[in-house]
Amino acid sequence: MPAHSASGTSTDTRRQVAYHRDEMEARTTTNRLDAQISRHHTLIGQLVERCGLPLHVLFVEEMAENAHRFRQALNEQYEYATVAFAVKSNPCRGAIRAAKQLGLGADVASEYELQAVLEEQIEPSEIVCNGNAKSANYLDMALHAGALIALDNENEIELLEERARRTTKRGTVLIRFRGMPLSGLTSDDQTTAADWTKFGFHIHDAKHVFARIASSRLLDFRGISAHIGTQIASPVGYELLFEHLFLLADQARQSGQSIDYLDIGGGFPVSFFSRAEWEAFTARLLKRLQSDAAEESVTWNDLPMGYADEQSQPTPRWIGKSYWSAFPASQMLERILDHHLQTGETVRDRLDAIGRPRLVVEPGRSLMASAGITIAEVISLKEVLGHHVVSLDMGINNHGTNLISPDIFPAAVLPGKDGDHPVEAFLAGRLCFSGDMVSKAKVRLNRLPAPGEWCVIFHTGAYSADHFASNSCGFPRPAKAAIRSDGSVEIWRDRETFTDVFGNAADQLTLDVS
Ligand SMILES: Cc1ncc(COP(=O)(O)O)c(C=O)c1O
Repeated sequence: MPAHSASGTSTDTRRQVAYHRDEMEARTTTNRLDAQISRHHTLIGQLVERCGLPLHVLFVEEMAENAHRFRQALNEQYEYATVAFAVKSNPCRGAIRAAKQLGLGADVASEYELQAVLEEQIEPSEIVCNGNAKSANYLDMALHAGALIALDNENEIELLEERARRTTKRGTVLIRFRGMPLSGLTSDDQTTAADWTKFGFHIHDAKHVFARIASSRLLDFRGISAHIGTQIASPVGYELLFEHLFLLADQARQSGQSIDYLDIGGGFPVSFFSRAEWEAFTARLLKRLQSDAAEESVTWNDLPMGYADEQSQPTPRWIGKSYWSAFPASQMLERILDHHLQTGETVRDRLDAIGRPRLVVEPGRSLMASAGITIAEVISLKEVLGHHVVSLDMGINNHGTNLISPDIFPAAVLPGKDGDHPVEAFLAGRLCFSGDMVSKAKVRLNRLPAPGEWCVIFHTGAYSADHFASNSCGFPRPAKAAIRSDGSVEIWRDRETFTDVFGNAADQLTLDVS
């Protein structure tokens, strides 16, 4: 039973329930993937034969389970809602088709993502077009389809009006906002609604923007939107977000607009580890950073990660991206809809009071991460300053989320064997730059692998395969395959070949542009 629906339950008990559930949740997301690997090991072997290594594998059943939990949370608390798959987390036709089959809408970030979701027949009224530098082509496509456009800046308003003038279509728009006091909730490069961000209008300009849209004969105001970042581990960010969005909604209503949509973006967190594992890791890292000689390095080159700015404080605090949350994925949504605002009402009640706008949530990571694994071959082992380093036949460009801020993902050697002895190791990539570490945090492996064995990295279904996929060092991009619960397989992205990267020796490279 969801914690919120235990009526009369005290906050402490609710927290304990959430804590306990988290322990289960973090174990189960890795254990569930482990169970999927065991169940489909023959198929995975066949896929490796066909597609080679490294290989990204998505389990559609896990994606469906995550989507179902979001829907269930909303059905119980506030049913006027759209769960929109953030396509950027796993941008390919297969994931979009699966999302459509699961009844999801879409958050798109380019004309290309928009074209794909339209081709897969996601309802335009369930599509939100985001981006801070939308092209005329992107706006034309959104206008033509009747998708929602999350307006980002003044120039975009002008461009959209200019494009709308050429058609008989009016733009259906949300206004995206920034400038909320939300710094430090996730890594600086992933915070998207505070002050230092390129996205959206500043909340101080809201009155002017609402009046500007109200006066437009070409644009229909439909609501407001924000996206506060990714891996938002604490509910505080969303609580502050709702306080601000409701103030903005009041301002919009005062300027004569009605709020049909309230889009709170994505950002729902994934528990990469259990709370106990997370606390043990951060405690060890802190001891090490505070020069406790008894503690060996737990991060590469003693990278301080979330303690970067806090080492000198009397009580250092982890800031930025967190790898554990008491409220992972849909549990965060349950929790924040039940939150009491400063006025005393719950978020849910306030939504009712402002006319039951359609609530849009745009999960990417929390829908996809725990549905995916990446398998790579172990190529070599060495010791660096006394630490095990396992080099894999993949690079950080095949696990791109790591390039924004170094992440920590559970990993294992396949298959598990009786008599395995856990060891800690850093995982290195194969690219020609020193920062190419697949894990800059030491991971606990079930045993030290031998060259030729396979290593699996768990929770790589979001922002790993495609996010910064490149041909660094000339490597072709690996395949991405999906396994459905009935054992059928889909190739979501085929492995590139030598020719895809380098062409043929006989290719003429000159182009006559006259
Ligand atoms: C506007 C918008 N919505 C949703 C998302 C998805 O975020 P997450 O994957 O953290 O759920 C993003 C991610 O960048 C985004 O920019």
